Amino acid sequence: MNKKNIVIFISGNGSNMEKIILESKCGVLKDICNILFVISNNKNSLGLKKAELLNIKTFVANSEDEIIDILKNYNVDYLVLAGFMKILSPYFVNLYKNKIINIHPADTNEYKGKNGYKWAFENNKKTTKITVHYVDEGIDTGKIIKQKEIDISNYSTLDELTSFGLTQEHDFYSNVLAEIFQTN
Ligand code: GRF
Repeated sequence: MNKKNIVIFISGNGSNMEKIILESKCGVLKDICNILFVISNNKNSLGLKKAELLNIKTFVANSEDEIIDILKNYNVDYLVLAGFMKILSPYFVNLYKNKIINIHPADTNEYKGKNGYKWAFENNKKTTKITVHYVDEGIDTGKIIKQKEIDISNYSTLDELTSFGLTQEHDFYSNVLAEIFQTN
């Protein structure tokens, strides 16, 4: 099997990104994908530092034109969004149709947009369904690839709930990506 060439898109902490990089070095994504580089639209994102420490090339790009200019120099199989907070235009999405993947902390049928854990916390949700989906022209409207329901009923603060949710996202995202990269 050919390794899939992937680019990870971040804007902030990059905890999912870090896990994907580690899994690609010595875990479930080893021999399955090759991380070409990480792109952030935020030059101050902590995730950029994490990527550099793990010897992954990074780019800061603020506009889609800049992103496209960078991507066109590489043979890219998948764009993996991990906390990327910029909305991609229909033009961009169509350039990479069915190649852009995202993770969302809630069931995208039930809640779309930012702050999914805050929404779950404020609505006293007992569970949330972490969702990995393809990205289409809408916000969190793309085809669902896989979901994982997690129990969040034990957390009395949003911070605790979010930390727990992120740990659950990390393993889930890497495992789902491994499945996608091996079957497509
Ligand atoms: C995660 O909750 C992810 O589901 C959402 O943004 C957050 C990113 O966190 N899309 P991190 O940057 O990976 O720590």
